[in-house]
Amino acid sequence: MRIKNICCIGAGYVGGPTMAVFASKCPDIKITIVDNNHEKIKLWNSNNLKNLPVYEPGLSKIIKQTRNKNLFFSTEIDNAINESDMIFISVNTPTKTDGKGKGLAADLTFVENCAKNIGEVAKSNKIIVEKSTLPVRTAEKIKEILNSTNKFNVKYEILSNPEFLAEGTAIDDLLYPDRVLIGGDNSDSGKKAIKLLQEIYQRWIPKEKIITTNVWSSELSKLVSNAFLAQRISSINSISALCEKTEANVEEVALAVGMDSRIGSSFLKSSIGFGGSCFKKDILNLVYISRSYGLTEVADYWENVIKINNYQTNRFGNKILQIINSDSEKNEISILGWAFKKDTNDSRESASIYLSEQLLKSGLKVKVYDPKVSKSRIIHDLKTVFQIKKLNNNQIKKYLANISIYKNVYEATYESGIIAISTEWEEFKKLDWSRIYTNMKKPAWIFDGRNLLNNLELKKLGFKTFFIGQA
Ligand code: UDX
Ligand code: UDX
Repeated sequence: MRIKNICCIGAGYVGGPTMAVFASKCPDIKITIVDNNHEKIKLWNSNNLKNLPVYEPGLSKIIKQTRNKNLFFSTEIDNAINESDMIFISVNTPTKTDGKGKGLAADLTFVENCAKNIGEVAKSNKIIVEKSTLPVRTAEKIKEILNSTNKFNVKYEILSNPEFLAEGTAIDDLLYPDRVLIGGDNSDSGKKAIKLLQEIYQRWIPKEKIITTNVWSSELSKLVSNAFLAQRISSINSISALCEKTEANVEEVALAVGMDSRIGSSFLKSSIGFGGSCFKKDILNLVYISRSYGLTEVADYWENVIKINNYQTNRFGNKILQIINSDSEKNEISILGWAFKKDTNDSRESASIYLSEQLLKSGLKVKVYDPKVSKSRIIHDLKTVFQIKKLNNNQIKKYLANISIYKNVYEATYESGIIAISTEWEEFKKLDWSRIYTNMKKPAWIFDGRNLLNNLELKKLGFKTFFIGQA
């Protein structure tokens, strides 16, 4: 048997790019990505590739090559399920906002709905692949749901195949991954299912990079990989605070530490704090699972990775507020960058949101510029964070009246007294900083939350500066 037809439920940051690369490498397989968000599917199908709902370098080129050839975007979920031999579940799994595990556990409602939907309509055997990041032992739950709604005596195999792509480099990560992980049952049919997915990946990935484990190891490995990456950032960020006190320079420390091949240099870039849809959510999930097994010390250990991250963003905001408090002329600040990292239009959990919240609540006016995140998204992010903090509508209105969003960086910085760099967009390095300086209120401050710019050059122009982990 060979897989001829794939369906992917969830046309988001993971489902979209992943299936686009699958389609480009497997022209003989028909791939349909479905989503219950009609507007999103319309955007994926739009003629103007600039309107794709996900911005990711290299993505539009692949979409152009494959769309409507062997890659389809559709809202006809039942049809796509029925046509397919293999179904990827790639819907989002946000942190629960209600009920047991509120604020920590992953909300599996969307995944469970997918399983219910598949169970109700599927008429032929299916391999179900968990792409969404899930707590350990979710596969069991999915199986239960599939079988409880199984009207046509369909046989299911569940595989876990977590996604390790990072946004901004998703296409390269998918084309040249460090590893592909496939978790499955040790039964004959389980092994067969693993082999079928392996054969797909082997079309472009060396065999030795595709590892197979049991389902539970695979599910847990994803959470642990993200937790380890985030832990490195929190480690270096904790040291950045110490550097500021001791006149050590965190960039120099990271370089020296990272050159030890046992440690390695990746993910040691000190910053305003990590964001993104995964790190916080996955660690909270790990904390929840550990606690639910009575492993209090383990849970506390990982929880501190998030505490340091919150501390870092807050610390950065406090540094700005110190300047504001000592200079009554300053009440406007420009934030450059809203995305949680460069080269994406995704702003989920971006440090910019929490920084803005802190500044707006202190009565400041905030001006924002980001090359890729839309105005409506920025307002949505702030509204959501204020709603989560239970602010009433009047308060929300008052704070939102103090935010303005610009399409031009020079306008966004005009007559501000302070600039905060929150995303490491390359274009910020190439700005005409002399022009920006001239148009700012003096003394003009730059708080570089990414250690992106050239501190010496800025000082030469007359800026006062704060760089992370540098006294
Ligand atoms: C992914 C993973 O799936 C998640 O578990 C991981 O931790 C982060 O990355 P992502 O692709 O980034 O999620 O999420 P998102 O961009 O929100 O895409 C999910 C899509 O699923 C959305 O387009 C949403 O409309 C769709 N969806 C959700 C459905 O089609 N059906 C549902 O029932 C729920
Ligand atoms: C992460 C994982 O890297 C990826 O393997 C997984 O599949 C999903 O979660 P992503 O969140 O898309 O990917 O981006 P990543 O590059 O990991 O960055 C996450 C955050 O950490 C960003 O805000 C980034 O700016 C920040 N970061 C990263 C640092 O502050 N310092 C670093 O050294 C690296």
